[in-house]
Amino acid sequence: QKPLLSQCYNLLDFEAVAARVMKKGAWGYYSSAADDEITLRENHGAFHRIWFRPKILVDVENIDISTTMLGAKTSIPVYVTATALGKLGHAEGEVVLTRASGKHDIIQMIPTLASCSFDEIIDAKEGDQVQWLQLYVNKDREITKKIVQHAEKRGCKGLFITVDAPQLGRREKDMRSKFTDPGTKVQEGQETDNSQGAARAISSFIDPALCWADIPWFQSITSMPIIIKGVQRVEDVLLAVEHGCQGVVLSNHGGRQLEFSRSAVEVLAETMPVLRERGLQDKIEVYIDGGVRRGTDILKALCLGARGVGIGRPLLYAMSAYGQPGVERAMQLLKDELEMNMRLIGCNRIEELHPGLLDTRSLFNH
Ligand code: FNR
Repeated sequence: QKPLLSQCYNLLDFEAVAARVMKKGAWGYYSSAADDEITLRENHGAFHRIWFRPKILVDVENIDISTTMLGAKTSIPVYVTATALGKLGHAEGEVVLTRASGKHDIIQMIPTLASCSFDEIIDAKEGDQVQWLQLYVNKDREITKKIVQHAEKRGCKGLFITVDAPQLGRREKDMRSKFTDPGTKVQEGQETDNSQGAARAISSFIDPALCWADIPWFQSITSMPIIIKGVQRVEDVLLAVEHGCQGVVLSNHGGRQLEFSRSAVEVLAETMPVLRERGLQDKIEVYIDGGVRRGTDILKALCLGARGVGIGRPLLYAMSAYGQPGVERAMQLLKDELEMNMRLIGCNRIEELHPGLLDTRSLFNH
């Protein structure tokens, strides 16, 4: 017996329900993270070390949380980040996220390792709904080229190249649960070995030799903006600017890769002052993901200078427990929380947010 959807009051509630109602293998794959899950906990925990310095006596009758990301309009500076194997949690897989995103005017990043085919996910969108492609780069570049050019042809508006997974991290919860294949497609010519958990079974095609020198090749095969997903230090943000990338996602892959990676929000706080100091803040859009669960988390990231934030697990949990209505409710809760907290901090528009609205002293010194 699970609670009514209307009894889920925030994104963490969905996690608690999912833990009870999901199949063990699916829960193991979605919820797991590397080693002792220290980074997983830090991702959300780091937000708790940032405090607000709200303005008072500002007219906050009308709040507008809409903005643009990579030039595309969005109702909220939040996107659905790429997460593999949607059918582990819901029989229909990623298209559930597509439909909910369409209803909410939220951008969806389509994973290379989706359970649904790429075209099914594209076909599930409504009207001019915006989608991006998350790319795992295949050792066989012809396969990668086909994927990228097909995505561009089908209207994807951004290419997010994941660079933090030259080898998939060890996620013991996933390994223990011995996932059984839910009919998931993997890339051509792929052998799967399920004994190491879902993650490792599907990822052996990823090219560990990928490096900065490959970036011009991507620029030569597509005119989609290129965003590097999985950046963890300001030095690499600067390299992304030098290589002409349009964006970075500061991310540690939801704590699933390198254990003891710092939280993205901490890396963001390290990055933005350096970009501003060098006058580069308008040269690149900076996104973060990992541990974003509350409107206040989003607000903190935006104040620090993020263009937007990605949400992973909470939407998977909402989808697994309640299907599309669950995902829609989770999105609505984030909108309501962000709008309320914008009002309470004394800002009407996203453009008005700035670091002076935060006290980050304990973010680094704790
Ligand atoms: C992921 N993530 C991910 N990233 C990516 O680039 N390609 C992928 O295929 C996947 N797959 C994936 C599966 C699952 C189950 C999870 C939880 C995560 C990482 C994802 O895009 C993002 O970085 C994190 O999920 C963000 O953290 P939260 O919101 O889950 O805390």
